Amino acid sequence: MRRESTNAGAPGPKPVDVGHTGARDGGMDSLSVATAGPKEVGFQVKVERTRAPRPKPDSTDLGFGRYFTDHELEATHDGRAWSSARICPFGSTKSDVASGAVQYGLSVFEGLKVFKGADGVLRLFRADAHARRFAKSAEAFCMPPVPQEMFTAAVRALTREDASWHPGDPGSIYVRPTLFGSEEFLGVRPSHAHTFSVILSPVGSYFGAGARPLRLWAEKEYVRACVGGVGWVKTGGNYAASLRAAERARSRGFDQVLWLDAVHHEHVEEAGTMNVFVRVGDRVTTPPLGGSILAGITRDSSLTLLREWGIDVEEHALSLTEITEAAKAGKELEIWGTGTAAVVSSIGEVAWDGGSVKAESTTIATRLKNAITGIQTGREEDKYGWLSPV
Ligand code: COI
Repeated sequence: MRRESTNAGAPGPKPVDVGHTGARDGGMDSLSVATAGPKEVGFQVKVERTRAPRPKPDSTDLGFGRYFTDHELEATHDGRAWSSARICPFGSTKSDVASGAVQYGLSVFEGLKVFKGADGVLRLFRADAHARRFAKSAEAFCMPPVPQEMFTAAVRALTREDASWHPGDPGSIYVRPTLFGSEEFLGVRPSHAHTFSVILSPVGSYFGAGARPLRLWAEKEYVRACVGGVGWVKTGGNYAASLRAAERARSRGFDQVLWLDAVHHEHVEEAGTMNVFVRVGDRVTTPPLGGSILAGITRDSSLTLLREWGIDVEEHALSLTEITEAAKAGKELEIWGTGTAAVVSSIGEVAWDGGSVKAESTTIATRLKNAITGIQTGREEDKYGWLSPV
Protein backbone atom coordinates (compact mmCIF):
# COMPACT_ATOMS: atom_id res chain seq x y z
CA MET A 1 0.00 0.00 0.00
CA ARG A 2 1.40 3.42 -0.93
CA ARG A 3 1.95 5.64 2.09
CA GLU A 4 2.04 9.38 1.93
CA SER A 5 2.34 12.40 4.18
CA THR A 6 4.03 10.73 7.14
CA ASN A 7 3.34 12.79 10.24
CA ALA A 8 5.45 10.81 12.71
CA GLY A 9 5.86 12.70 15.95
CA ALA A 10 2.62 14.67 15.65
CA PRO A 11 0.65 14.63 18.89
CA GLY A 12 -2.11 12.03 18.77
CA PRO A 13 -4.59 10.60 18.96
CA LYS A 14 -6.75 12.80 16.78
CA PRO A 15 -9.62 12.04 14.43
CA VAL A 16 -8.93 10.57 11.03
CA ASP A 17 -8.63 13.04 8.22
CA VAL A 18 -10.27 11.72 5.08
CA GLY A 19 -10.41 13.76 1.93
CA HIS A 20 -12.92 12.85 -0.77
CA THR A 21 -12.95 14.00 -4.34
CA GLY A 22 -15.48 13.16 -7.03
CA ALA A 23 -19.04 11.88 -6.97
CA ARG A 24 -20.25 9.89 -3.96
CA ASP A 25 -22.74 7.71 -5.81
CA GLY A 26 -20.77 5.60 -8.26
CA GLY A 27 -17.56 6.23 -10.19
CA MET A 28 -13.90 6.48 -9.21
CA ASP A 29 -12.63 8.53 -6.32
CA SER A 30 -9.48 8.87 -4.32
CA LEU A 31 -9.41 8.80 -0.54
CA SER A 32 -6.59 9.92 1.65
CA VAL A 33 -6.55 8.57 5.19
CA ALA A 34 -4.35 9.66 8.08
CA THR A 35 -4.34 7.20 10.97
CA ALA A 36 -5.06 8.37 14.51
CA GLY A 37 -2.45 7.69 17.18
CA PRO A 38 1.13 8.54 17.90
CA LYS A 39 2.46 6.93 14.70
CA GLU A 40 0.44 8.89 12.20
CA VAL A 41 0.76 7.91 8.57
CA GLY A 42 -1.43 8.48 5.57
CA PHE A 43 -2.06 6.50 2.43
CA GLN A 44 -4.06 6.72 -0.72
CA VAL A 45 -6.96 4.40 -1.41
CA LYS A 46 -8.63 4.29 -4.81
CA VAL A 47 -12.37 4.21 -4.41
CA GLU A 48 -14.71 2.74 -6.99
CA ARG A 49 -18.17 3.33 -5.58
CA THR A 50 -21.04 1.02 -6.25
CA ARG A 51 -23.64 2.19 -8.73
CA ALA A 52 -26.19 -0.12 -7.12
CA PRO A 53 -26.28 0.45 -3.35
CA ARG A 54 -28.09 -2.39 -1.65
CA PRO A 55 -31.06 -2.09 0.69
CA LYS A 56 -30.00 -2.02 4.33
CA PRO A 57 -31.25 -4.77 6.63
CA ASP A 58 -33.66 -4.28 9.53
CA SER A 59 -31.38 -3.25 12.39
CA THR A 60 -33.51 -5.18 14.91
CA ASP A 61 -33.00 -8.51 13.13
CA LEU A 62 -29.35 -8.60 12.09
CA GLY A 63 -28.06 -11.76 13.71
CA PHE A 64 -24.38 -12.29 13.00
CA GLY A 65 -22.54 -12.21 9.67
CA ARG A 66 -25.61 -12.40 7.42
CA TYR A 67 -25.30 -9.00 5.75
CA PHE A 68 -22.43 -7.14 4.11
CA THR A 69 -22.03 -3.46 3.35
CA ASP A 70 -21.77 -1.95 -0.14
CA HIS A 71 -17.98 -2.04 -0.43
CA GLU A 72 -14.86 -4.06 0.31
CA LEU A 73 -11.18 -3.08 0.46
CA GLU A 74 -8.31 -4.94 -1.14
CA ALA A 75 -4.51 -4.60 -1.37
CA THR A 76 -2.06 -7.11 -2.79
CA HIS A 77 1.51 -8.14 -2.01
CA ASP A 78 3.60 -9.44 -4.90
CA GLY A 79 6.40 -10.92 -2.80
CA ARG A 80 8.22 -7.58 -2.56
CA ALA A 81 5.82 -4.84 -1.47
CA TRP A 82 2.22 -3.95 -0.83
CA SER A 83 0.23 -2.39 -3.66
CA SER A 84 -1.97 0.63 -3.03
CA ALA A 85 -5.40 -0.25 -1.72
CA ARG A 86 -8.70 -0.05 -3.52
CA ILE A 87 -12.21 0.12 -2.23
CA CYS A 88 -14.66 -1.42 -4.66
CA PRO A 89 -18.24 -2.69 -4.73
CA PHE A 90 -18.75 -5.69 -2.44
CA GLY A 91 -18.39 -8.95 -4.36
CA SER A 92 -16.24 -7.58 -7.18
CA THR A 93 -12.93 -9.16 -6.12
CA LYS A 94 -12.21 -12.72 -7.22
CA SER A 95 -10.93 -15.72 -5.32
CA ASP A 96 -8.97 -18.33 -7.21
CA VAL A 97 -9.45 -22.08 -6.87
CA ALA A 98 -5.73 -22.63 -7.62
CA SER A 99 -4.63 -20.36 -4.76
CA GLY A 100 -2.80 -21.42 -1.62
CA ALA A 101 -5.79 -20.12 0.34
CA VAL A 102 -8.27 -22.48 -1.29
CA GLN A 103 -5.90 -25.44 -1.69
CA TYR A 104 -3.89 -25.39 1.54
CA GLY A 105 -5.74 -23.07 3.88
CA LEU A 106 -3.18 -20.26 3.62
CA SER A 107 -5.48 -17.73 5.18
CA VAL A 108 -5.63 -15.80 8.45
CA PHE A 109 -8.25 -13.35 9.63
CA GLU A 110 -9.34 -10.95 12.35
CA GLY A 111 -12.67 -9.91 13.76
CA LEU A 112 -13.07 -6.49 15.38
CA LYS A 113 -16.00 -4.22 15.99
CA VAL A 114 -16.98 -0.60 15.38
CA PHE A 115 -19.38 0.97 17.89
CA LYS A 116 -21.52 4.08 17.71
CA GLY A 117 -21.49 6.29 20.81
CA ALA A 118 -24.44 8.36 22.03
CA ASP A 119 -22.59 11.30 20.41
CA GLY A 120 -22.97 9.59 17.03
CA VAL A 121 -19.21 9.03 16.65
CA LEU A 122 -18.03 5.66 15.30
CA ARG A 123 -15.17 4.12 17.26
CA LEU A 124 -13.02 1.03 16.83
CA PHE A 125 -12.44 -1.20 19.84
CA ARG A 126 -8.83 -2.30 20.42
CA ALA A 127 -7.86 -2.02 16.75
CA ASP A 128 -4.13 -2.01 17.61
CA ALA A 129 -4.40 -5.30 19.52
CA HIS A 130 -6.19 -6.88 16.57
CA ALA A 131 -3.54 -5.54 14.18
CA ARG A 132 -0.77 -7.08 16.30
CA ARG A 133 -2.49 -10.45 16.47
CA PHE A 134 -3.13 -10.37 12.70
CA ALA A 135 0.60 -9.85 12.08
CA LYS A 136 1.49 -12.77 14.37
CA SER A 137 -0.99 -15.04 12.62
CA ALA A 138 0.53 -14.07 9.26
CA GLU A 139 4.03 -15.01 10.42
CA ALA A 140 2.80 -18.46 11.48
CA PHE A 141 1.92 -19.17 7.83
CA CYS A 142 4.99 -17.48 6.25
CA MET A 143 2.86 -14.60 4.97
CA PRO A 144 3.92 -10.94 4.76
CA PRO A 145 2.43 -9.31 7.88
CA VAL A 146 0.22 -6.31 7.19
CA PRO A 147 1.90 -3.34 8.96
CA GLN A 148 -0.13 -2.24 11.95
CA GLU A 149 -0.72 1.29 10.64
CA MET A 150 -1.83 -0.07 7.24
CA PHE A 151 -4.25 -2.44 8.97
CA THR A 152 -5.92 0.30 11.01
CA ALA A 153 -5.92 2.82 8.15
CA ALA A 154 -7.57 0.28 5.83
CA VAL A 155 -10.21 -0.58 8.41
CA ARG A 156 -10.89 3.13 8.98
CA ALA A 157 -11.11 3.95 5.28
CA LEU A 158 -13.66 1.23 4.55
CA THR A 159 -15.68 1.93 7.69
CA ARG A 160 -15.88 5.62 6.79
CA GLU A 161 -17.01 4.71 3.31
CA ASP A 162 -19.86 2.52 4.58
CA ALA A 163 -20.55 4.37 7.85
CA SER A 164 -24.24 4.70 6.96
CA TRP A 165 -24.53 0.91 7.40
CA HIS A 166 -23.92 1.17 11.15
CA PRO A 167 -27.08 -0.13 12.85
CA GLY A 168 -26.50 1.88 16.08
CA ASP A 169 -26.34 0.54 19.60
CA PRO A 170 -26.84 -2.33 20.56
CA GLY A 171 -25.64 -3.39 17.10
CA SER A 172 -22.19 -2.80 15.66
CA ILE A 173 -20.20 -3.20 12.48
CA TYR A 174 -18.12 -6.37 12.58
CA VAL A 175 -14.93 -5.85 10.58
CA ARG A 176 -13.38 -8.93 8.97
CA PRO A 177 -9.82 -8.35 7.71
CA THR A 178 -8.37 -11.39 5.92
CA LEU A 179 -4.91 -12.14 4.52
CA PHE A 180 -4.61 -15.02 2.10
CA GLY A 181 -2.21 -16.66 -0.32
CA SER A 182 -3.39 -15.73 -3.80
CA GLU A 183 -0.68 -17.15 -6.04
CA GLU A 184 -1.92 -19.74 -8.56
CA PHE A 185 0.37 -22.63 -7.68
CA LEU A 186 -0.17 -26.18 -6.45
CA GLY A 187 3.25 -26.96 -4.97
CA VAL A 188 3.47 -26.86 -1.19
CA ARG A 189 5.55 -23.83 -0.17
CA PRO A 190 4.80 -20.33 1.05
CA SER A 191 2.75 -18.32 -1.44
CA HIS A 192 4.55 -15.68 -3.52
CA ALA A 193 1.46 -13.48 -3.77
CA HIS A 194 -0.98 -12.41 -1.08
CA THR A 195 -4.20 -10.45 -0.82
CA PHE A 196 -5.28 -8.35 2.15
CA SER A 197 -9.02 -7.89 2.17
CA VAL A 198 -11.43 -6.11 4.51
CA ILE A 199 -15.20 -6.60 4.54
CA LEU A 200 -17.84 -5.24 6.92
CA SER A 201 -20.94 -6.81 8.35
CA PRO A 202 -23.57 -4.97 10.40
CA VAL A 203 -24.29 -7.32 13.30
CA GLY A 204 -26.49 -7.84 16.32
CA SER A 205 -26.05 -10.54 18.91
CA TYR A 206 -24.06 -13.68 17.97
CA PHE A 207 -26.38 -16.00 19.90
CA GLY A 208 -29.62 -14.08 19.31
CA ALA A 209 -31.35 -11.47 21.44
CA GLY A 210 -31.90 -12.38 25.10
CA ALA A 211 -29.88 -15.58 24.74
CA ARG A 212 -30.17 -18.01 27.68
CA PRO A 213 -27.01 -19.45 29.28
CA LEU A 214 -25.35 -21.85 26.86
CA ARG A 215 -25.20 -25.63 27.25
CA LEU A 216 -21.84 -27.11 26.24
CA TRP A 217 -20.73 -30.61 25.37
CA ALA A 218 -17.19 -31.31 26.68
CA GLU A 219 -15.57 -33.15 23.79
CA LYS A 220 -13.40 -36.11 24.79
CA GLU A 221 -12.84 -37.68 21.38
CA TYR A 222 -12.08 -34.89 18.92
CA VAL A 223 -9.62 -32.11 19.77
CA ARG A 224 -9.46 -28.54 18.49
CA ALA A 225 -5.68 -28.05 18.64
CA CYS A 226 -2.53 -29.26 20.34
CA VAL A 227 0.49 -27.47 21.78
CA GLY A 228 3.03 -26.95 18.99
CA GLY A 229 0.29 -26.64 16.38
CA VAL A 230 -1.67 -23.62 15.16
CA GLY A 231 -4.47 -23.38 17.73
CA TRP A 232 -3.23 -19.89 18.66
CA VAL A 233 -3.45 -18.70 15.03
CA LYS A 234 -6.65 -17.02 13.86
CA THR A 235 -7.05 -19.17 10.79
CA GLY A 236 -10.08 -20.70 9.12
CA GLY A 237 -8.71 -24.23 9.49
CA ASN A 238 -9.18 -24.11 13.26
CA TYR A 239 -12.85 -23.34 12.73
CA ALA A 240 -13.21 -25.95 9.96
CA ALA A 241 -11.70 -28.54 12.30
CA SER A 242 -14.29 -27.68 14.95
CA LEU A 243 -17.37 -28.29 12.83
CA ARG A 244 -17.80 -32.05 13.09
CA ALA A 245 -17.70 -32.03 16.88
CA ALA A 246 -19.90 -28.92 16.99
CA GLU A 247 -22.51 -30.59 14.77
CA ARG A 248 -22.42 -33.71 16.95
CA ALA A 249 -22.89 -31.57 20.07
CA ARG A 250 -25.81 -29.81 18.38
CA SER A 251 -27.44 -33.11 17.46
CA ARG A 252 -27.27 -34.01 21.17
CA GLY A 253 -29.06 -30.78 22.11
CA PHE A 254 -26.03 -28.66 23.09
CA ASP A 255 -25.13 -25.19 21.81
CA GLN A 256 -21.36 -25.50 21.44
CA VAL A 257 -18.38 -27.68 22.28
CA LEU A 258 -16.19 -27.23 25.33
CA TRP A 259 -12.75 -28.09 23.94
CA LEU A 260 -10.37 -30.04 26.17
CA ASP A 261 -6.60 -30.46 25.95
CA ALA A 262 -5.33 -32.81 23.25
CA VAL A 263 -3.29 -35.07 25.57
CA HIS A 264 -5.39 -35.84 28.64
CA HIS A 265 -8.83 -34.77 27.33
CA GLU A 266 -9.34 -33.25 30.73
CA HIS A 267 -8.22 -29.62 30.90
CA VAL A 268 -10.55 -26.89 29.68
CA GLU A 269 -9.29 -24.98 26.60
CA GLU A 270 -11.93 -23.05 24.65
CA ALA A 271 -15.71 -22.95 24.36
CA GLY A 272 -16.95 -23.00 20.76
CA THR A 273 -15.69 -19.73 19.26
CA MET A 274 -14.82 -18.28 22.69
CA ASN A 275 -12.18 -18.27 25.40
CA VAL A 276 -13.50 -19.68 28.64
CA PHE A 277 -13.52 -18.47 32.25
CA VAL A 278 -14.58 -20.47 35.33
CA ARG A 279 -15.35 -19.01 38.76
CA VAL A 280 -15.24 -21.39 41.71
CA GLY A 281 -16.27 -19.48 44.82
CA ASP A 282 -14.24 -16.26 44.78
CA ARG A 283 -11.53 -17.39 42.37
CA VAL A 284 -11.73 -16.94 38.59
CA THR A 285 -9.55 -19.12 36.35
CA THR A 286 -8.95 -19.01 32.61
CA PRO A 287 -6.62 -21.41 30.79
CA PRO A 288 -3.15 -20.01 30.03
CA LEU A 289 -2.07 -19.22 26.45
CA GLY A 290 0.07 -22.31 25.99
CA GLY A 291 0.03 -22.42 22.18
CA SER A 292 -3.22 -24.27 21.59
CA ILE A 293 -5.50 -21.41 22.66
CA LEU A 294 -6.39 -18.21 20.79
CA ALA A 295 -5.17 -15.04 22.52
CA GLY A 296 -8.63 -13.46 22.62
CA ILE A 297 -8.82 -9.67 22.82
CA THR A 298 -12.02 -9.89 24.90
CA ARG A 299 -10.20 -12.43 27.10
CA ASP A 300 -7.48 -9.84 27.63
CA SER A 301 -10.00 -7.03 28.28
CA SER A 302 -11.77 -9.28 30.81
CA LEU A 303 -8.54 -10.10 32.64
CA THR A 304 -7.71 -6.39 32.83
CA LEU A 305 -11.12 -5.48 34.26
CA LEU A 306 -11.23 -8.40 36.72
CA ARG A 307 -7.80 -7.37 38.05
CA GLU A 308 -8.91 -3.73 38.26
CA TRP A 309 -11.92 -4.85 40.34
CA GLY A 310 -9.66 -6.74 42.74
CA ILE A 311 -11.10 -10.12 41.78
CA ASP A 312 -8.81 -13.09 42.37
CA VAL A 313 -8.11 -14.20 38.78
CA GLU A 314 -5.46 -16.56 37.50
CA GLU A 315 -4.35 -17.96 34.16
CA HIS A 316 -4.04 -21.59 35.08
CA ALA A 317 -4.98 -25.05 33.78
CA LEU A 318 -8.35 -26.22 35.09
CA SER A 319 -9.65 -29.77 34.76
CA LEU A 320 -13.19 -31.08 34.44
CA THR A 321 -12.53 -33.13 37.59
CA GLU A 322 -11.64 -29.99 39.58
CA ILE A 323 -14.81 -28.28 38.37
CA THR A 324 -16.97 -31.30 39.25
CA GLU A 325 -15.42 -31.66 42.68
CA ALA A 326 -15.93 -27.96 43.43
CA ALA A 327 -19.60 -28.28 42.45
CA LYS A 328 -19.98 -31.42 44.60
CA ALA A 329 -18.42 -29.55 47.54
CA GLY A 330 -21.21 -26.97 47.19
CA LYS A 331 -18.97 -24.14 45.96
CA GLU A 332 -20.64 -21.52 43.79
CA LEU A 333 -19.82 -22.14 40.16
CA GLU A 334 -19.96 -19.70 37.26
CA ILE A 335 -18.72 -20.33 33.71
CA TRP A 336 -18.66 -17.95 30.75
CA GLY A 337 -17.12 -17.50 27.35
CA THR A 338 -15.57 -14.37 25.84
CA GLY A 339 -15.02 -13.35 22.23
CA THR A 340 -15.39 -10.37 19.93
CA ALA A 341 -18.46 -11.85 18.28
CA ALA A 342 -19.95 -13.41 21.42
CA VAL A 343 -18.81 -10.62 23.83
CA VAL A 344 -19.42 -12.31 27.23
CA SER A 345 -21.80 -15.27 27.23
CA SER A 346 -22.81 -17.24 30.29
CA ILE A 347 -22.55 -21.02 30.21
CA GLY A 348 -25.15 -22.77 32.35
CA GLU A 349 -24.23 -26.39 31.90
CA VAL A 350 -21.38 -28.61 30.76
CA ALA A 351 -21.96 -32.29 30.05
CA TRP A 352 -19.70 -35.10 28.80
CA ASP A 353 -19.64 -38.83 28.41
CA GLY A 354 -20.10 -39.86 32.03
CA GLY A 355 -20.96 -36.62 33.81
CA SER A 356 -22.32 -33.11 33.85
CA VAL A 357 -22.15 -29.99 35.94
CA LYS A 358 -24.48 -27.01 36.24
CA ALA A 359 -23.29 -23.42 36.77
CA GLU A 360 -26.22 -21.30 37.86
CA SER A 361 -24.53 -18.02 38.74
CA THR A 362 -24.09 -15.27 36.14
CA THR A 363 -22.90 -12.49 38.48
CA ILE A 364 -19.39 -11.80 37.18
CA ALA A 365 -20.22 -12.51 33.54
CA THR A 366 -23.07 -9.98 33.70
CA ARG A 367 -20.82 -7.37 35.34
CA LEU A 368 -18.12 -7.94 32.72
CA LYS A 369 -20.54 -7.78 29.82
CA ASN A 370 -22.04 -4.50 31.10
CA ALA A 371 -18.58 -3.03 31.66
CA ILE A 372 -17.21 -4.02 28.25
CA THR A 373 -20.27 -2.95 26.26
CA GLY A 374 -20.40 0.20 28.42
CA ILE A 375 -16.85 1.14 27.43
CA GLN A 376 -17.48 0.23 23.79
CA THR A 377 -20.45 2.53 23.48
CA GLY A 378 -19.08 5.35 25.64
CA ARG A 379 -21.42 4.79 28.62
CA GLU A 380 -18.40 3.92 30.78
CA GLU A 381 -15.05 5.66 30.98
CA ASP A 382 -12.43 4.29 28.55
CA LYS A 383 -9.61 4.17 31.13
CA TYR A 384 -7.34 1.99 29.05
CA GLY A 385 -7.61 3.88 25.75
CA TRP A 386 -9.27 0.93 24.01
CA LEU A 387 -11.39 3.07 21.69
CA SER A 388 -10.19 5.08 18.72
CA PRO A 389 -12.34 7.21 16.42
CA VAL A 390 -13.01 5.94 12.91
C1 COI B 1 -14.73 -13.49 16.86
O1 COI B 1 -15.23 -13.58 17.98
O2 COI B 1 -14.46 -12.42 16.32
C2 COI B 1 -14.46 -14.65 16.07
O3 COI B 1 -13.53 -14.62 15.33
C3 COI B 1 -15.39 -15.77 16.11
C4 COI B 1 -15.93 -15.92 14.74
C5 COI B 1 -15.23 -16.99 14.02
C6 COI B 1 -17.38 -15.96 14.70
